[in-house]
Amino acid sequence: MLDLKKDFPIFHTHPDLIYLDSAATSLKPQSVIDKLHEYYTDFTANIHRGIYKNAEKATEEYEETRKVVAKFINANRLEEIVFTRGTTEGINLVASTIGLDSIERGDEIVVSRMEHHSNFVPWQQLAFQTGADYKIIDLNDKYELAVTNYENGKLSLDLSGVITKKTRIMALTLVSNTLGTINPLKEIIAEAKKINPNIITVVDAAQAVPHMKVDVQQLGCDFLAFSGHKMLGPTGVGVLFGRFELLDKMSPYQYGGDMIRQVKIEATTFNDVPHKFEAGTPHIAGVIALKESIRYLQNIGFEAIRRHEQDLIKYALQALSHEFSDEVMRYGPQDTGHMGGIVTFSFKGLHPHDIVQILDEENIAVRAGHHCTMPLHDLLGVPATTRASFYIYNNENDVDKLIVGLKKAVKILK
Ligand SMILES: Cc1ncc(COP(=O)(O)O)c(C=O)c1O
Repeated sequence: MLDLKKDFPIFHTHPDLIYLDSAATSLKPQSVIDKLHEYYTDFTANIHRGIYKNAEKATEEYEETRKVVAKFINANRLEEIVFTRGTTEGINLVASTIGLDSIERGDEIVVSRMEHHSNFVPWQQLAFQTGADYKIIDLNDKYELAVTNYENGKLSLDLSGVITKKTRIMALTLVSNTLGTINPLKEIIAEAKKINPNIITVVDAAQAVPHMKVDVQQLGCDFLAFSGHKMLGPTGVGVLFGRFELLDKMSPYQYGGDMIRQVKIEATTFNDVPHKFEAGTPHIAGVIALKESIRYLQNIGFEAIRRHEQDLIKYALQALSHEFSDEVMRYGPQDTGHMGGIVTFSFKGLHPHDIVQILDEENIAVRAGHHCTMPLHDLLGVPATTRASFYIYNNENDVDKLIVGLKKAVKILK
């Protein structure tokens, strides 16, 4: 088991905190906080413009993060890394540039039932705007995409009728933020491209990049978006990976400073990729500190991170079914090998909000609600669920405390 609480100052401030809401946002280690502080105290300046020492240092630190990110996700070139405000902005950027420019009436856009609203609503609205057909991949009874089937651990896919020659965009999440399901996107993308080589594939990697090795070349995707704040980094900063050939042809997302080459009254020419997509002053401190979160994760190593989370969810699932057996309804794959560090459940007859309020009295932070997946909750047949999400700083003691808290909640509410 990893033992990392000491690196996270929030546990010095609140030694009793049991934080089980990392799928919403992660805690921050000292090294990330120090880097933010260093930018604000030692070398505050805007980037790409000034030619004095602090401006050069800020630019260097900002662009260094681009290098670290490119290597981290194995992008082909630096220009494929665009800094955004987060996953939501990355997906909206794709939908409102290449999406709006290339989709026509009768084209198809494919998403799944388990998408976070950030990877659902932008495509739904694009379909409304363009007259495209909006198609949803549903789930099977194992809480996995209905196009997948595992037999004796071997995956088979059936995308017939789902992906057609008319499908222009397929946007899917790599890991579900509600079910924890890990989707076999490498295989799905390869199969979809076989059916339609012109398809544009978009990966929502918000719940994947913090927890597992993500390699954009291996995945074979065209775009991939993630958020800094779920991977130990600052809020308000994220990354959009895009294949250079596509980014280079795409129209800008926003207009303003830094994204232009020349502005005349008659016309404007735009800067090169990726700066064409980074209009205005970005979250400089956030981008600079993001590389510290990546370094922290790399120092631990994704094999160790994955093992740690797997051990914790196995322990939590066993404890839940042992203590509450058929009182508790769990939503997610049975095979923990297909799951990230997320355990979502509900208790018959009890409202998730009441449960988490009682847990909060014990300093246990757990999420109740629809987790920005309302179409998924429609399928589950409940308006809300309770979600405990684990990360590198959690341990078995946190699970034990959760179980004690849940027992108290059930006793009070029944
Ligand atoms: C799977 C998934 N996609 C997208 C998002 C949106 O991320 P952000 O709010 O950082 O833009 C989240 C956030 O919870 C998520 O879990």
